[in-house]
Amino acid sequence: MKTVKVGLGEKSYDILIGYPLDTIGGMIKKYTKGIKSLIVTNPTIAGYYLEAVEKSLQGAGFQVFVAQVPDGEEHKSLAEANRLYTKCVEYRLERESIIVGLGGGVIGDLAGYVAATFMRGLPIVQVPTTLLAQVDSSVGGKVAVNLPESKNLVGSFYQPFLVYIDLAVLKTLPVEEMDVGMAEVIKYGVILDKKFFEYLENKMGKLRELDMQVLERVVARCCRLKAGVVEKDERERGLRSILNFGHTLGHALEALTDYKKYKHGEAVAIGMVGACRIAEKMGMLKKETRDRIEHFIEKAGLPGRIGTELNVDSIVQVLSLDKKVRAGKVRFVLPEKIGKVVVRNDVPEDIVRDVVTGLRE
Ligand SMILES: NC(=O)c1ccc[n+]([C@@H]2O[C@H](COP(=O)([O-])OP(=O)(O)OC[C@H]3O[C@@H](n4cnc5c(N)ncnc54)[C@H](O)[C@@H]3O)[C@@H](O)[C@H]2O)c1
Ligand SMILES: [Zn+2]
Repeated sequence: MKTVKVGLGEKSYDILIGYPLDTIGGMIKKYTKGIKSLIVTNPTIAGYYLEAVEKSLQGAGFQVFVAQVPDGEEHKSLAEANRLYTKCVEYRLERESIIVGLGGGVIGDLAGYVAATFMRGLPIVQVPTTLLAQVDSSVGGKVAVNLPESKNLVGSFYQPFLVYIDLAVLKTLPVEEMDVGMAEVIKYGVILDKKFFEYLENKMGKLRELDMQVLERVVARCCRLKAGVVEKDERERGLRSILNFGHTLGHALEALTDYKKYKHGEAVAIGMVGACRIAEKMGMLKKETRDRIEHFIEKAGLPGRIGTELNVDSIVQVLSLDKKVRAGKVRFVLPEKIGKVVVRNDVPEDIVRDVVTGLRE
């Protein structure tokens, strides 16, 4: 068991890692005076874990309500938020009542958004059940819902009062969903921590076998690395944007294929390869290092190439649409070496074009 502290003044909180779900009630009790609790989850996760969480909360003296949202990204919506507000009213939640977000990033973002806004803010505990949510979305306080026009368009920065991580829940997570999280794990190594990258290179096999000791170290390290960034730049005014390594091209690929062809982690993996190649062409990154990162992404079971059905022009065009939103500049997070990245908005379009062309081969 490990605790990572996120230091944000009066908004500071603990991330508890490696704690079983059936002791969650007693733990939460230590952090709150509230009596009522609303678990927000989906039927897939509820089938595995709702009973344990519900019983544990009841055992600790909480009154427990449950709201289920259908499974899927399309339900991270204002319509579902609205349904949840209605439940909050129906159950007469009050300022000290707690919301428990039990699920992956979709549930975490939606429950967090509702917690941030209902009565101008109810305390929320994030209980992330996917690797992506454990190492990324549950930490740092970004909450949001999607609009038909774009993802995560409505939201806020709203920190949880506790993040409670049971690693054993990953045993039921489909392998493809593990891979999605793995892309973000590798990201942390490349952008911030060479030693951690090396540890991952050595332990990837164990990690994919869900060796609990390795998993605990990895999740704790990722949480600490993300917390370190968020502590310095909670609202993404600068430093926090390094967390977008691999995401510039990744988001373009996702948007271009209507979020259907690629899982987020796959798109990010290709995006990381793309960013490394751009960095190499800009003379910032050694070829050996670029090869090493690319090779490792492949070894982790993630893709590093774009299918030939996507054409280069459309990818470059989507990247430049993004550019309009950012005052005329496409921003890339580019590695200089493993453990150090810089944000650049001056990558020449012909380099982007070359790299995208190369990724289709
Ligand atoms: N807030 C942030 O900082 C942040 C960061 C990254 C991503 N996100 C958001 O996170 C979302 C993606 O999250 P995700 O990748 O966790 O996807 P997800 O929440 O859709 O979960 C993936 C699938 O796994 C299922 N599942 C979850 N836990 C399970 C378990 N333990 N066993 C079996 N099945 C399980 C879910 O029901 C779902 O079908 C996106 O909406 C993205 O925008 C937010
Ligand atoms: Zn991501």
